[in-house]
Amino acid sequence: MGKKLIEDVAMPTDARVNVEQAFGVMERRGCAKEDLDYLRSIISDKVIYDFSGYSGITTFLAISSKPDEKNLCVKICDTPHQLERSYVMLNLMSKYSLFPSVTEYISTNKDYLVTEAIESPMALNVFDDFRSLSSFMGRALRHFHDIQWNIASMTELEKHFISSKTSSILPEALSHENGLRFLAQYQNDFDYGAMKEYLKKYQKDYLEDEVMIHGDFNPRNVFVKDDNLVAVVDLDDTCFGDRHYDIYFSMWTVALYSGILDNLELVKECENIFLDSYGREKIDQRRMDYCKKLTCMYWQEHNDIRGLI
Ligand SMILES: Nc1ncnc2c1ncn2[C@@H]1O[C@H](COP(=O)(O)OP(=O)(O)O)[C@@H](O)[C@H]1O
Ligand SMILES: [Mg+2]
Repeated sequence: MGKKLIEDVAMPTDARVNVEQAFGVMERRGCAKEDLDYLRSIISDKVIYDFSGYSGITTFLAISSKPDEKNLCVKICDTPHQLERSYVMLNLMSKYSLFPSVTEYISTNKDYLVTEAIESPMALNVFDDFRSLSSFMGRALRHFHDIQWNIASMTELEKHFISSKTSSILPEALSHENGLRFLAQYQNDFDYGAMKEYLKKYQKDYLEDEVMIHGDFNPRNVFVKDDNLVAVVDLDDTCFGDRHYDIYFSMWTVALYSGILDNLELVKECENIFLDSYGREKIDQRRMDYCKKLTCMYWQEHNDIRGLI
């Protein structure tokens, strides 16, 4: 693999923005006056940072200078109801530690989700080498997978969102024309037709719904304090699924963010550290191989690498 993939990626910049500029952008975007009035009432006295990724959803963090006032995270999306699943999942998961609480969900001509902002830094900004990041992420993902969900106490809507996502992952992967080029390059596998055939053939043997998977367990969605996992965000892809899907995808994002994808030896070392830290007793190589292809086909080409971060 000759090419350093990280050079193809413009990393998100988490920039401080002027309050008036931020509201100016929202007005031009067509946000309704009463929704903007509400947002003004809760964030205009705070310092605002734009943390938007590339998913098309705007994310602002609003940080207060008053010690007794809550900091907020505001997500805005142009498609009505698109944040509803995130809202329902967060409401469910905020009963467990590790997840921010929900302040408000508004669905009008746009969707708005206001939550508590996590005050600790994200893993990406804490570890400065791939070995410590990999070790942390492996341990953090295991912690997430070990959460015991009380399914009996879930509402019908919560169960509906979880099961519909679980059952849509494979059909969606099979419906895509291409897999994600960056992931295929890393796997050295561009035969998308063969990947789909394999996914269909071994679905029953290798794909299991055994834990709640996060779906996008990358170092920007995970927060750290004193070397421990303190919070997890971005629950849009969370559902019951195969742990190997999360493991493979997370290992790949660690290598991606660390800028080592062009060095196979370092990638191998990164994966070994991750798996040791996660706990190898839980790893089944056949299911890992299956989930490699599933991940590649699920994240379709046109999303590009930016859809992941
Ligand atoms: N509650 C929160 N507290 C602090 N930071 C957050 C919070 N939610 C999101 N962020 C930051 O904003 C970034 C983008 O938000 P995220 O929910 O991951 O949306 P997406 O990745 O779909 O754009 C995250 O990577 C994270 O760094
Ligand atoms: Mg994210």
